[in-house]
Amino acid sequence: MKCGNCELIEICAEIEADFRELADEGIAANETPYINWDGDFDDYLRRMQILAKGVNLPADEVPRNTYFLFCEGKIIGRSEIRRELNDEHRKLGGHIGGDIRRSERKKGYGTILLNLTLEKARELGLKRVLLTCDKTNAASARTIEGSGGIFTEEIFDEKANVFVKHYWMDL
Ligand SMILES: CC(C)(COP(=O)(O)OP(=O)(O)OC[C@H]1O[C@@H](n2cnc3c(N)ncnc32)[C@H](O)[C@@H]1OP(=O)(O)O)[C@@H](O)C(=O)NCCC(=O)NCCS
Repeated sequence: MKCGNCELIEICAEIEADFRELADEGIAANETPYINWDGDFDDYLRRMQILAKGVNLPADEVPRNTYFLFCEGKIIGRSEIRRELNDEHRKLGGHIGGDIRRSERKKGYGTILLNLTLEKARELGLKRVLLTCDKTNAASARTIEGSGGIFTEEIFDEKANVFVKHYWMDL
């Protein structure tokens, strides 16, 4: 799959049906990486747009943009950019998170998703980004390393009870 056939689209009303397809596959696989997704798309969209705007956010939230990867018109995955880090994200999560729908993994899309998301981060003015993954998440580590992430440290996150690898990238 070439990057040219793929695009990253920021969340908007027009992607509702595609989003539902993606979320349903994630939920069926017991993977629910969507912030408080409860089936109400309008409410979800509104909350994501508030986070993207980043004004008057609750204390535990940070400004973030939510994107979806479409390749040849099909929804493939999701990513987000946290434009600022709080203490929690400095340990686990970092600036960029993402996932590819289960049925489309190991086909190169994770790498495309990360690279298009890094481009957006650059456009948003970020100069340097932190990427993290669980020590046991070989797929994520390979994806980050393959895109030029520089391993800096491994920490233990007491809240999540996991060892976390930290990578930084200059944009
Ligand atoms: C991590 C994830 C996004 C990778 O997506 P993907 O589409 O499978 O990734 P790619 O096909 O682009 O593969 C990227 C690299 O990872 C490797 N890889 C993919 N799945 C792997 C696995 N299960 N175990 C080991 N390596 C794996 C690929 O071989 C490739 O390495 P290479 O370039 O050296 O050959 C995907 O597995 C996913 O969505 N996981 C669940 C959510 C998640 O963990 N997100 C990251 C949180 S930090």
